[in-house]
Amino acid sequence: MDLAAKPEHSALQVKNLTKRFGPLVAVDDVSFEAKPGEFISVIGPSGCGKSTLFNAIGGMLADYEGQILLDGVTNPARRAIGMVFQEESTFPWRTTLQNIAFPLEIVGTPKRERLERSRELVKLVGLEGFEDHYPSEMSGGMRQRTAIARTLAFGPRFLLMDEPFAALDEQTRILLGDKVLQIHQRLKQTTLLITHNITEAVQLSDRVLVMTYRPGRIKRIVDIDLPRPRSSEIVSSPRFGELVGTIWNDLREEASRGLAEGEKSPPPRRKS
Ligand SMILES: Nc1ncnc2c1ncn2[C@@H]1O[C@H](COP(=O)(O)OP(=O)(O)OP(=O)(O)O)[C@@H](O)[C@H]1O
Ligand SMILES: [Mg+2]
Repeated sequence: MDLAAKPEHSALQVKNLTKRFGPLVAVDDVSFEAKPGEFISVIGPSGCGKSTLFNAIGGMLADYEGQILLDGVTNPARRAIGMVFQEESTFPWRTTLQNIAFPLEIVGTPKRERLERSRELVKLVGLEGFEDHYPSEMSGGMRQRTAIARTLAFGPRFLLMDEPFAALDEQTRILLGDKVLQIHQRLKQTTLLITHNITEAVQLSDRVLVMTYRPGRIKRIVDIDLPRPRSSEIVSSPRFGELVGTIWNDLREEASRGLAEGEKSPPPRRKS
């Protein structure tokens, strides 16, 4: 199977994206681009509009101002975007291999090819030996790796992840970061990762977009000039520390603003 990088990996352009929920401006005039193969993280305090941005790019949100283009097209085939969610999304009644094979079943891939591709994805996310385990028999990190492999089975040209590791402890998260680095190194998919974890953003990304607290705007774009290929060892390098410090300075202001405002007045209730 050809899992390797393809030249047609997508370019993303977000142009003047604004999303309001009634009087609340959740995302305010956000513009940025991701080049094919680029890994971008969006970081910001809770409630700054990260998931709103994720939903808009993933095509799950109508009714916004501005434009979202994938390879220059506003309405790309859904299959081009692979999404990984914060919540557990593995099917508990399916084993690891059956979870990963699911998208291939949906599109009617013949059984032999399906198994071959699924096994290769199992290897890619480092779950060899757990093919026949059910999600309940695995750790949270392993379940998220299963979810990532299942998303990759679609062969998406663009990978969109909303805090996929938020429920994991810091050490597991950093080590899982190694896996994500290896996967990206191999497949080179254009990737947008939503996170509120600075270490994760710096470890994985080519660029980090720091968002402001309500309304969610882009405060700064930080180039992560750490060499690739990377591994988790980079976390202890001086440059890593500097980059984390730079982002934290920006984020601290926003996070404290969020805390203070949250104590004064809660945001309008969600309607859905
Ligand atoms: N469907 C909705 N209806 C009304 N308001 C919404 C809706 N979805 C989000 N909001 C509001 O928009 C703002 C941004 O929410 P969003 O979920 O995008 O934040 P976030 O950055 O993902 O936060 P977190 O880090 O906690 O996940 C919040 O104030 C939220 O209350
Ligand atoms: Mg969110």
